[in-house]
Amino acid sequence: MTPLELLSRRRSIRSFTKESLRPEHVKRLKALITMINTHQQGLKFQLITEDPDPLEGFSKSYGVFTNPSNYVAAVVDTAAPDVYERAGYYAEQLVMSAVESGIGTCFVGGTYKEDRVKAQLRAGERILFLVLLGYPSDNTRLMARVMAKFVHLRHMTPDQFFEPESEAVSAVERIPILKDGLEAVSYAPSALNRRPVRIFVKEINGEEMVCAKVDASNPKNLIDLGIAKYNYNFATGTECVWGNGMPLSGGESYL
Ligand SMILES: Cc1cc2nc3c(=O)[nH]c(=O)nc-3n(C[C@H](O)[C@H](O)[C@H](O)COP(=O)(O)O)c2cc1C
Repeated sequence: MTPLELLSRRRSIRSFTKESLRPEHVKRLKALITMINTHQQGLKFQLITEDPDPLEGFSKSYGVFTNPSNYVAAVVDTAAPDVYERAGYYAEQLVMSAVESGIGTCFVGGTYKEDRVKAQLRAGERILFLVLLGYPSDNTRLMARVMAKFVHLRHMTPDQFFEPESEAVSAVERIPILKDGLEAVSYAPSALNRRPVRIFVKEINGEEMVCAKVDASNPKNLIDLGIAKYNYNFATGTECVWGNGMPLSGGESYL
C-alpha cells in the first residue's frame, strides 16, 4: 500500500472491541513513542493501556465512544518551541503506524477528564490531547454514527486546501509533488473536522516553496497544522520546516 492509500483509509474510530492490545502491537507503539520522545524536545508521549477512566464520564453522557480503554496521552512541555505543531505531527505518525497494524484510532481533544488521565506530569507540562487506540468494532453507537456523518457533511476537494483555490491547478502543473501533497492534506483529521490548514506557494531565495498555515489566533489549530504537515511529508517523502507559514520541504537543510 502506498502512503497515500494508507492515509486515505484512516477514519476516526469511536467504537472498539474489548480485546486488549496485542503484545506485539504494544511493543511497536512503545518503540515509536520512545523514538519520538528521545528526538523531539518537549514531547513526553505516554501509552496507557486498560484504562477507560478519563472518558467514562463523557462517554456515558454523550454516548460517543464504546470501550475506549487504551490511549496515548500527548504530554508536552509547554515551553518547548513549536510544541503544539510537533505534538500533532508525531501523534499523526503514531496514528498511521497504528492504522498500518489494523488498530483503530481517534484523537480526543476535549471530552476527557484531565485529572483522571494516568499520565505522569512534571511542572510546566500538560496534556494537549489523547489518541485512543483499539481494535475497531462494527457495533458503532448511534451517537458516534451521527457524529461521523455530521462531521463529514462538508466535503472538501484537495484543491480547496490550496490558497488561492483558483490557482491550485496551475500550481500543481508547476510543482507536480503538490498533487499528492494536497490529497494527503485532505485526508488529515482535524478537531471538529474544521480543516483549518491552507497550503500556499511562497518564493524563498528565488525558489517557489510549498508552505502550510493556519489561523493561529486559536493555538489549537497548530495541532491540526502539525497533523496536516505529517500527511504531506509522509505522502511526498519530504521533511517540513517547523513553524506556521513555513515550507513543507527542505527541513533537513534549513538553518
Ligand atoms: C486535535 C483533534 C481533536 C479531536 N477531538 C475529538 C473529540 O474530542 N471527540 C471526537 O469524537 N473526535 C475528535 N476528533 C476527531 C475529529 O472529529 C475527526 O478527525 C474529524 O471529524 C474527521 O473525521 P475522520 O478523522 O474520520 O477523517 C479530534 C480530532 C483532532 C485532530
